[in-house]
Formats: sequence, C-alpha cells, structure tokens
Amino acid sequence: MKIVVAYSGGLDTSVLLLWLKEKYNAEIIAYCSDCGQGDELDGLEAKALSTGASKCYIDDQKEEFARDYIFPMFQANAIYEGRYLLGTSIARPCITKGMVDVALKEGADAIAHGATGKGNDQVRFELSAAALAPDIKIIAPWRDAEFRAQFPGRKEMIEYAEAHNIPVKASMKKPYSMDRNLLHISFEAGALEDTWYDATGEADRDMYVLSVSPEDAPDTPQYVQFLFDKGNIIGLQTEGLAELITELGDFEVQGEKDGYTLLTPYGIMRVLNFLGGKHGIGRVDIVENRFVGMKSRGIYETPGGTIILAAHQDLETLVMDRDLQQTRDTLIPKYAQLVYNGFWFAPEREAIQALVTESQKKVSGEVRMKLYKGNVMQAGRRSPHSLYDEDVATMEGGQEEAYNQDDATGFIALNALRLKANARQK
Ligand code: ARG
Ligand code: SIN
Repeated sequence: MKIVVAYSGGLDTSVLLLWLKEKYNAEIIAYCSDCGQGDELDGLEAKALSTGASKCYIDDQKEEFARDYIFPMFQANAIYEGRYLLGTSIARPCITKGMVDVALKEGADAIAHGATGKGNDQVRFELSAAALAPDIKIIAPWRDAEFRAQFPGRKEMIEYAEAHNIPVKASMKKPYSMDRNLLHISFEAGALEDTWYDATGEADRDMYVLSVSPEDAPDTPQYVQFLFDKGNIIGLQTEGLAELITELGDFEVQGEKDGYTLLTPYGIMRVLNFLGGKHGIGRVDIVENRFVGMKSRGIYETPGGTIILAAHQDLETLVMDRDLQQTRDTLIPKYAQLVYNGFWFAPEREAIQALVTESQKKVSGEVRMKLYKGNVMQAGRRSPHSLYDEDVATMEGGQEEAYNQDDATGFIALNALRLKANARQK
C-alpha cells in the first residue's frame, strides 16, 4: 500500500506519518503544499525522510493559489456570514488538488490528512478529493478510534516521537490552533473558546502575525491606487512601492503601465498583505457556523484580502449595470457557503463562477484608496467603462433628453398603485 500524507514537519503530522506507516505497513509519501504559510521549508524533505517517508514533495502553490482560487473568489466578493473572507476555506481545495495530483502520479492507494473530526477542514479536504479522484481512499486518523486512544494528548505524541527518534523541536505548545496561508491567518481554540474573551488587548498583542493593531498603525495615511482588469487587480501604485518589492524579494515585476507597477496575483497579495498589515487592516473576531453544525469562535487577519474586497466593490459601483450587480449579489451568500462547506469543485460553484466571471467583463479601471489605522477608505474611482453620467446625475438641472423629470411622475404613480390598494384594503 502507498499513502500520500499531508505533512508540515510539525509534531502532529510527523506522528501521523509514522503511525500510518506502521498501521498500514505502507510506503509513505509526504506532501507539503507551500501556499504562503511562511514556514521555513528548508530541511523539510530531510526531516520527512528521517521520519519514515520514502519521498517528500514540497509543492510551491503560491502563484496558483492566488491566481486560480483567491482571485476568482474575490471577483465574487465572497464573504461568509457577512464577515469571514474564507482564508482557510479557499486554501483547502488548492492543497487537495496538489496532493491528489501527486497521488495519481505516484499511483498511490490513499491520501491522509490531519484534520480533526469536528471541523470544516476534513469535509473540504474529502469533498475536494472525491471530486478530483473518486477512486482514491481517504484516511483520517483523527477519526480513527485507535489513533485517538493512543494519543489522548500532546504528551503521548511527544513520547511516541521520542521513542521513534522523530526529531521534535522543543517548541512550546501554541496557545491557539493556527492556520496561515497567503490570504490569512486564523486563530481558534484555547482561550478563544470563551466567546467573551477579548483578544484585542495588550495580553494578546503578540498573537497577531500579519498585522499591527490599529492603535499601533502609522499616524500618516497611505494612498494606494489599483489598476483592475476584468475584476482582477493587475497593477499597483503607491509611495515606496519599488523599495517594498525589493524588500519582499520573492516575486518579479511584470512591467509598467500608466504609472502602475504590474504584478502577478501572488505579487499583488504580497504587497497588499504588507501594506494592510502595516496599517492595522483586516482583523475580525467572529462566531461562525461550521458546516458540521457547531458554532465556533475564530480570529482572523486578512490584510490584503480586506483591501482587495473594498477596492473591487468600489470599482463595481462605477461600471456595473444595476441589475447585473444585484443579480450577482444575490449569489454571494450561496457562493460563500459553497466555498466554506468544501464544494469548490462542485458543478454549482463552477456555474456560479461562470456567471461571476462574465459579470466582470467591464470591471476594468482605476481605484484609489486611503489606508489609515485599520480603515480602507474610498478616495476615488475612474474607468473607460463608467456608467456614471455626470450630466444625468447632476443636481444642477440639465440634459432633458437623457432624463426627463416628467417621466418620473408616471413611474412613481404606477409603482404606488399597489401600495394604495394595500392601504385601502387595511
Ligand atoms: N474556521 C475557519 C474555517 O473553517 C478556520 C479553520 C482553521 N483551520 C485550522 N486547521 N486551524 O475556514
Ligand atoms: C480542524 O478541526 O481540523 C480545524 C478546524 C476546522 O476544520 O474547522
């Protein structure tokens, strides 16, 4: 038997790897997706091999994740239960795709993941795998009673690792369950399980990874300009951008256009995460409904995503037809729910995506935003596709051919008809 195991090099997945190898007497292939979690991946392969894997894949998915998952989702303005930008949810299908590709290439019989039996991630992982490779078996050790009995706590895991010469870093247990990628970082469990617990204060100052708190953000605002093409940001303009790109250092400029620096989706995410984080943008604290039925409390930092959503919504106000926009908007909760629940590779998500992408044909142009102490403030928008007509909109009187005010009389009268009928009935 051959099993591909989702592997991060941490205690849990190391124990999982070896446990699976022993239980199934299997050949183990470790798979680690690099989707922007910022971990040190050097030495990971050596570690996987010494833990018992026959091979280790380190899959650089950063650009793919940004281009094929994050950007299409932001074209839809997806937001779950009004506040969650789906940072973990959207990464799962991407990671599963990478893993399934390796499993197929290697002719593996099964893939295994370390998600618990109480959360969303197990569902996303397994539904994505089902849609991509229906014949591959899925192993979820945390739902295996034997595994749970053997590892009731961290202590047993450390003992097991030491007994099997698995190198475990003498790292402190993290106070929260964290998940980081290019779009966000999440914090759950631990002290956060008390929904009244306030994590905005001094005590948790060091918990945050991607952003400063608004109190600590610079006193001077920063303007950023965005160049959009069909609903996607393709270029940025802001003071100090060239230096920042050099400093971030792991992506290339694609060119220049009208004063904008053109970047790939990954480059855009990197820059906006940095700027958002610097200005204290994108923190939320929510109680959300998990697909499996329970409520859970989480804290998220989504600096770049928060800026993208605000800028994108703003350009749409200028260029999108009213009823097209309103039609698309009715689909946002559905789309977000599909992403959250793990149905990225389902036909209904793909069909809604087709509508969303079609709706973005004219969403090209420029937006200007001001970042200031936790806020993303609208500061202007313009586009060759603008539907805004100053002559029609003006309060100063004007163009009677385009808009004849007398037409409004009948328009209102007919709309009032049924309201009057209702009122008389009462
Ligand atoms: N509650 C969020 C979601 O379901 C975050 C999950 C975090 N996952 C994790 N393995 N720490 O999308
Ligand atoms: C987990 O249970 O593995 C993490 C939380 C979640 O998936 O919702």
